[in-house]
Amino acid sequence: MPQLNSNARHRVFLNTAEVASLIGISKQTILNWMNRGIIIEPQRNPVNNYRQWSEADVLRIRDMIRSGTLIRIVIANQRGGVSKTTTTHTLARLFADQGKRVLLVDTDSQGSLGQVLGLKPIRFLHEFIVNDLAFEDCIVKAHERIDVLCSNRENNKAEISLQGMTFGELAFMRLFGRVEKLYDVVLIDVAPSINILQTCAMVYTKNVLIPVAMDVLSLQGPWRVWKQRDC
Ligand SMILES: Nc1ncnc2c1ncn2[C@@H]1O[C@H](COP(=O)(O)OP(=O)(O)OP(=O)(O)O)[C@@H](O)[C@H]1O
Ligand SMILES: [Mg+2]
Repeated sequence: MPQLNSNARHRVFLNTAEVASLIGISKQTILNWMNRGIIIEPQRNPVNNYRQWSEADVLRIRDMIRSGTLIRIVIANQRGGVSKTTTTHTLARLFADQGKRVLLVDTDSQGSLGQVLGLKPIRFLHEFIVNDLAFEDCIVKAHERIDVLCSNRENNKAEISLQGMTFGELAFMRLFGRVEKLYDVVLIDVAPSINILQTCAMVYTKNVLIPVAMDVLSLQGPWRVWKQRDC
């Protein structure tokens, strides 16, 4: 993972080799796309003449590769008990019934998703993110076409690890970018709070579904999620 200056959090740039490694394609592919005008060449660093790719460029290229093929959604609302987990679970079943392969990721330390599905996981999200355990060892099969990456109370280890990385959102994206090719749909259930895992999930999916209950406090949650999306 490229090491970035924490002071440059919002104006950080990657070179072409770093972008290629992050997205999982070859540098030559990026150069070919640039030559063919499929992607626009970024400015160059005046000091070392490297191309300077921004975070937005990386997301654009990634989405271009998988546009129309992979569905990624985070189900979020800062308000608790508004059906985030139930919606995630129901959508997973709906997609699986349509023949799609679904990955469910629980980022809530309550671990409700695993409980609702009656799973008994022995490996958890933080072990995939922090301990770099093999993805296949961390998932639990809930259905022929539904795999689940469960969470538990030790999620704070993942939070601390991602917080310590100056480019944590892209680290998260890279981890899931490696495994998403196994699936047609990635659904992420989050905790009823704003935390780094939720931010990473929002950057990764770029699609947020906000379930609400018909009460005033529940309806305030979407505004907070919306503001976080813009941060
Ligand atoms: N459409 C629904 N109709 C009736 N009850 C529902 C519906 N959706 C969820 N529930 C119930 O509401 C409760 C809370 O749902 P759920 O756990 O999905 O909410 P949540 O937003 O994930 O909660 P948390 O913020 O604690 O993670 C559960 O008991 C669930 O069974
Ligand atoms: Mg929940």
